Amino acid sequence: MPSEINTPNKLELKNIHKSFPTVVKGHAGRTQILAGVDLVVKANEFLTIIGPSGCGKTTLLRIIASLLPADSGEVLVDGKPVTEPSAERAMVFQSFGLFPWKTVLDNVRFPLGIRNVPPREATEIAMTYLRKVGLEKSASAHPHQLSGGMQQRVGLARALATEPEVLLMDEPFGAIDAQTRELMQEELMRLWQETRNTVIFVTHDLDEAVLLADRVVLMSPGPGHVRKLVSVDLPRPRWGYDVRAHEQFAPLRAELWQALRGDLLQGSAAG
Ligand SMILES: Nc1ncnc2c1ncn2[C@@H]1O[C@H](COP(=O)(O)OP(=O)(O)O)[C@@H](O)[C@H]1O
Ligand SMILES: [Mg+2]
Repeated sequence: MPSEINTPNKLELKNIHKSFPTVVKGHAGRTQILAGVDLVVKANEFLTIIGPSGCGKTTLLRIIASLLPADSGEVLVDGKPVTEPSAERAMVFQSFGLFPWKTVLDNVRFPLGIRNVPPREATEIAMTYLRKVGLEKSASAHPHQLSGGMQQRVGLARALATEPEVLLMDEPFGAIDAQTRELMQEELMRLWQETRNTVIFVTHDLDEAVLLADRVVLMSPGPGHVRKLVSVDLPRPRWGYDVRAHEQFAPLRAELWQALRGDLLQGSAAG
C-alpha cells in the first residue's frame, strides 16, 4: 500500500533553507541548519522522520507549523503556500506542553477557545477526544497528578480535538517509559486509522520509525537534508501481534541503521 499511496499531495516542502545566527571565536556569522529540504507528503500518509540529534528535525517541524520562518523555500498545504500558524497544522511536543494550572479538560478545550468554538461545544469535543485516549475520568485533574504517559495522551487529545489535517509530532513519546510507549504507539495507530489525518512524526527510535510509518525519512546533518526515503509495506493494523518479528521488519531497520550509523560515525569524528 505505501509504495503506491495515490492520494493527493497534502504537504510539499520545496527547497527549504534555514540558518541561525552564531558567534564563533568572537565573529558573528550564521550556521546553516537546513539546506535544500524537499519532501512531498500524501494525504492520509503516516510519515516518520529520523536523523542524528541536531540535524534540524525540530526546526523543520516548526517551519512546517509556521512557528518559524524559513530563509528560503516554500511550504505548501493542498498546493497553496502557507506562512501563518493554523489549526490545520497541530503540533505535539516531547515535553507535552500542557498548562500546569489548567485542568485536563481546560487544556484540551484551550485551542478550541482560540478558534471561537462556543464553550459548550468545546467541552463536548474535548470530552470526545479525552474519551478516545481513555482519559475522560481525569478531566478535572491537573497535569501534575498524571503520569508522563497520561500527560502525553492529554497532549494528543488536545492536538486531535482541533481535527488538524496535518499532525506534527516531535518525539512525542521520548519522555515516556518503554512499556507505556508501546501502548501509546498502538493507541496512536488506532486513532490514526479512525481519523486518517496526515501525520509527520519525528523520533530518534528506529523501531518506532519503522513500526508506525508508511514511509520513513532519514535526515542527514551538515546541514540537514533528506538523505533517504524508505517505504514500509508492513500490513496494517500493526498491533495485536509482534510486528517487530515480521520478516520485513529487520531488513528495513537494518537498511536505515546502516545509513544512520554512517552519519553518526561521521558526526562523532567531526565533533
Ligand atoms: N533558535 C535557535 N537559534 C540558534 N540555533 C538554533 C535554534 N534552534 C535550533 N538551533 C540549532 O539548530 C540545530 C538543529 O536543531 P534542532 O532542529 O533542534 O535539531 P534536532 O531536532 O534534529 O535535534 C542545533 O544545532 C540547534 O542548536
Ligand atoms: Mg528535536
